[in-house]
Amino acid sequence: MLLFAGSSNLPLAQKIADELRLELAKSETVRFADGEARVRILEEVKDEVCVVVQSTSSPVDSNLMELYQFGDLLKKGKAKKIVAVVPYLAYSRQDKAHRQGEAVTAKLVAKMIKAVGFTDIILLELHSQDVVNFFTIPTLCLSATETVAKYIDEKRDDFGEDDLVIVAPDEGGKQRAENLAQILEATVAVIAKDRPLEKTDVVQETNMTVKSGTVKDKEAIVVDDLISTGSTAMNAANLVLKQGAYHAYLIAIHAVMSKGDTTFWQNSPFEKIFVTDSINMEKNKQFEKLTIISVASLIAKNLTNLV
Ligand code: R5P
Repeated sequence: MLLFAGSSNLPLAQKIADELRLELAKSETVRFADGEARVRILEEVKDEVCVVVQSTSSPVDSNLMELYQFGDLLKKGKAKKIVAVVPYLAYSRQDKAHRQGEAVTAKLVAKMIKAVGFTDIILLELHSQDVVNFFTIPTLCLSATETVAKYIDEKRDDFGEDDLVIVAPDEGGKQRAENLAQILEATVAVIAKDRPLEKTDVVQETNMTVKSGTVKDKEAIVVDDLISTGSTAMNAANLVLKQGAYHAYLIAIHAVMSKGDTTFWQNSPFEKIFVTDSINMEKNKQFEKLTIISVASLIAKNLTNLV
């Protein structure tokens, strides 16, 4: 197997390679002054199983374009199998035309990934399972729930003696919260959220209410697929604290963190924030309350099964 690393998440690609006891295959990505990416493969790939690890985090379109170039080059080089490992898939929140006249961009990305030559794809914790159906190549969508649950369980004492409640910050996240709650033997609360798409992608606290379950006198762990502007998570924290939770914690699988500096997150109402390394976070963006849980061995294990 030849394991290539796109430029978006080298540390994760290296960890996956270490788990598989492989050297990263040689390639080069340069970016021109205007941001255009140019990829070069420096290996003989004919008849090889080739894997490309690339998260499509910010700069989203540039990282996507880099991924497309890998697919195209490996296809031209006549690789036997071309597997995309996309730990964070951008545009997966655009899984439907929310309003008339809009594109279903997640579907477009799925089409492009196949069109450029990828034969298989491994994804992680999608915003919605509907996105998997947009892919017409073999698609494996991994869940980070067990990996995260195992970590939290080992640190159980840090959450005090009180009952845990796992909070879904919107109804779309209910299943994720239920899965986590089942492993951690906790209860579930679900918040109803209304995002006023006409105005902004920022959610107001007044648009959120606890719809089911109770958080009073509990340690509340809010779990979400991703944090971007942070508005969903912050409002969820304020809401559960107002409703009597002792403390609020946050698990977000993908640390998109498109708004806010380290102070914004460090000063948030959360006691602790757990994310995975599906998106690379430079050291200078990390903060004291943050814990990064690696998904490298989860991905490595599933890659071994696939190829
Ligand atoms: C949306 O439904 C997702 O599950 C997340 O809750 C949302 O994308 C988080 O975005 P933000 O941090 O901007 O509120």
